[in-house]
Amino acid sequence: MKTALVTGSSARIGAEIIRVLHKNNYQVIIHCNNSKEIADQLCNDLNNLRENSAKVIVCDLSNIASIDMINDSIDSLDLLVNNASVFYPNSIGESSPEHWDSILNVNLKAPFFLAKGLSEKLSSQNGSIINIIDIHAERPLEKHAIYNISKAGLKMLTQTLAKELAPSIRVNGVSPGSILWPEQDAQLTDDDKNLMLKKIPLNSQGSPKDIADTVLFLANANYITGQTINVDGGRTLAQ
Ligand SMILES: NC(=O)c1ccc[n+]([C@@H]2O[C@H](COP(=O)([O-])OP(=O)(O)OC[C@H]3O[C@@H](n4cnc5c(N)ncnc54)[C@H](OP(=O)(O)O)[C@@H]3O)[C@@H](O)[C@H]2O)c1
Repeated sequence: MKTALVTGSSARIGAEIIRVLHKNNYQVIIHCNNSKEIADQLCNDLNNLRENSAKVIVCDLSNIASIDMINDSIDSLDLLVNNASVFYPNSIGESSPEHWDSILNVNLKAPFFLAKGLSEKLSSQNGSIINIIDIHAERPLEKHAIYNISKAGLKMLTQTLAKELAPSIRVNGVSPGSILWPEQDAQLTDDDKNLMLKKIPLNSQGSPKDIADTVLFLANANYITGQTINVDGGRTLAQ
């Protein structure tokens, strides 16, 4: 049985990736930072479906020592999905070095050092890495400078790792368009939401399952590496 680690997977898109991989016979490692309670709940649900098929790892990905702890705590790995992310608005004028670190550390530095630390284990399984990027890696989202930069870096990381870790590890990306509305600091007004929906040729938001199914496709796609698939209802056509 294959094993997958999905970062930031207690809820929302990450949790759906976990459910779809689990349904497809993966042993899953649910990673969380603040959301331990709901991660445990998801883990229990999956273990009730199949005994000893899920476990939870808690770690703050902004802390490099904790990332080493994740790498050391995993025995064998077939699939790493870098999904955890920090997303909140900041105009250039109000951006600080602390904002830069809080976003770049989780969205870019952590995927790099997880890939580095887990590469030997992935390599021995002929495994793969899938980075969850964003269509705004290509065209910037207004007032989200640091986030845009982090995701552009993650897209380049995908290509760089694909080249350097071949032939034993494949590395690909999935770039979601609008899937779930942001929460907390990044909430949108109804007007903003309607404006965004009007720009999507397929006329609606995507679902977490659209992202999870693409992750599963790439995990099985033995002759694809270095690619990023936009799952955006055609949004990039209208940008
Ligand atoms: N939602 C969308 O429509 C959309 C659109 C484009 C791209 N994406 C990308 O798709 C992925 C999933 O999106 P989402 O909206 O489901 O993500 P999300 O809910 O904003 O974040 C996912 C998880 O990241 C974890 N995280 C944040 N800071 C962390 C830290 N310091 N250490 C460890 N974990 C941390 C959080 O875990 P805890 O709760 O446990 O702290 C959170 O549950 C992200 O990479 C996002 O950029 C999403």
